[in-house]
Amino acid sequence: MSSEIGKIWCIVPAAGIGLRFGENRPKQYLPFRSSTIIDTTIKTLLLCTSLEKVIVCLHPDDEHAQQSDFIKHPRVHVVIGGNQRSDSVLNGLQSIQTDTAKQDWVLVHDAARPCVRLADINKLISEAQTHQQGSILAVPIHDTIKEVDNELAVRTLDRTKLWRALTPQLFKLSDIQGALLSAKKQSRVVTDEASAIEQLGLPVRIVEGHADNIKITVPADLQLANMYMDQQEEQSCA
Ligand code: C5P
Repeated sequence: MSSEIGKIWCIVPAAGIGLRFGENRPKQYLPFRSSTIIDTTIKTLLLCTSLEKVIVCLHPDDEHAQQSDFIKHPRVHVVIGGNQRSDSVLNGLQSIQTDTAKQDWVLVHDAARPCVRLADINKLISEAQTHQQGSILAVPIHDTIKEVDNELAVRTLDRTKLWRALTPQLFKLSDIQGALLSAKKQSRVVTDEASAIEQLGLPVRIVEGHADNIKITVPADLQLANMYMDQQEEQSCA
């Protein structure tokens, strides 16, 4: 990777407890393929040679990381996450403060997205580097989207302008740190890094990714993710 983009640090928020999934352990530690969701995710991230280190943000009461493969990897570093996803990312940023330089970038990827493709990660990095802009993977929305209030559709959004935001999301370190701190100071809830960047009026470039890069949220997602991984493996053998 050229030096003009600086080093790229990877942060994996994994401190959620997966309430919506309703299992006896956080969803990222559920079995997936031959390992777990989180190990599958981090294995792909580690294949990306542009990433300096992978910082994994864990819940303070995490009981599963020690049995995971990622914990033994020399490019992985673990930190304690926070109450919100954005607090977890801020803790990750804080932990690398002394190792980073002004021109460095940060790539954030959800632990719960194990189907991410190395090719999409590399495409995102290449686009951000070419345009020198914060960039996110996203997919266009083909369904008609309704705004609903009290079980009534109140508005239909213009779907030609709608994209589903995925991760990874890649930003200049100073931008993402400033944006997340500003959102926190003003008690603004951000569900992804890009929304914090948008709130500061900074550009967020949309890079089309694959729709199979789903976030595992409910049990049905796990079956779907398994099927997507089968398809990816078939395609790579073809
Ligand atoms: O809850 P949701 O599925 O949107 O979480 C997305 C990612 O953020 C997950 O990988 C989850 O573990 C992580 N997270 C976190 N710290 C929190 C809440 C969620 O790192 N406090």
